[in-house]
Amino acid sequence: MKLQNRTVVVTGGGSGIGRACAIKCAEEGANIIIADINEEGASETEKLIQAAGRNALACKTDVSDPSSVASLVEKTIQQYGKVHALINSAAIQVNKTVEDTSFEEWNRQMAINVGGIFLCSKLFLPHLKASRGNIVSLSSVNGFFVEPACAGYCATKAAIIGLTKAMAIDHGHEGVRVNCICPGYIDTGLAEGYFQIQADPAKARAEAGKLHALWRIGKAEEVAQVAVFLASDDASFVTGSAYVVDGGFGSGMPPK
Ligand SMILES: NC(=O)c1ccc[n+]([C@@H]2O[C@H](COP(=O)([O-])OP(=O)(O)OC[C@H]3O[C@@H](n4cnc5c(N)ncnc54)[C@H](O)[C@@H]3O)[C@@H](O)[C@H]2O)c1
Repeated sequence: MKLQNRTVVVTGGGSGIGRACAIKCAEEGANIIIADINEEGASETEKLIQAAGRNALACKTDVSDPSSVASLVEKTIQQYGKVHALINSAAIQVNKTVEDTSFEEWNRQMAINVGGIFLCSKLFLPHLKASRGNIVSLSSVNGFFVEPACAGYCATKAAIIGLTKAMAIDHGHEGVRVNCICPGYIDTGLAEGYFQIQADPAKARAEAGKLHALWRIGKAEEVAQVAVFLASDDASFVTGSAYVVDGGFGSGMPPK
């Protein structure tokens, strides 16, 4: 077991990639805190983990709200005493060009996707330093290879790569590793939201698969197993890295 008796906090753990990370970490022996603004989704993840005989606690959290994150930290320490890994998966995606994006939409997306990682990292860092723990954040291939009509989202995902590297060099000497993952299209909430606003969602989904060298979109579990690797001692010399898990999406256009 790669995470036996460790405590892992997963933001956005109520759905998609975050839920898959929470479940995989629990399978590897970790105690889990599921932090999500969607209470129902978080408690569903909690039930799935508990049904498999592992420890999990759902904690309703808005990662963009400092007092909500402070309360998450308090509950984590109350419940498990320590924290060894923070997996930041919470995000939203505004599918618009800059011209069409309102100032409120821009600010909200920044506050959740980047501000949430800032706040959770800031408030968990004292505990991560004590445990010589680590941070794994979900960026995206869109952090360096952009697509149309999601300008603000792409900006947040690029910011996460910068923030990851900056935190890695600031806190490496304190024993804290910081990495991020850059997935291609994954069959979960944000990609599905994008497909649903296209004229023909099924066609858009099929075409998205063909953008990947492997000719398919990925599964949440395929991202989660990389998150487990990064959160575990197997990655003891890995920090400041943006781990690409994209089925070859960023390598170029595959043959039709
Ligand atoms: N699905 C993809 O194709 C894909 C590709 C690349 C990167 N990613 C990244 O992976 C992560 C997860 O994506 P997903 O597809 O699983 O999305 P999802 O929508 O299934 O899950 C996101 C979760 O974040 C939660 N959330 C939203 N706002 C929040 C807030 N303010 N506070 C706390 N929780 C909040 C939602 O309730 C939801 O449970 C995101 O960071 C996303 O950018 C996804």
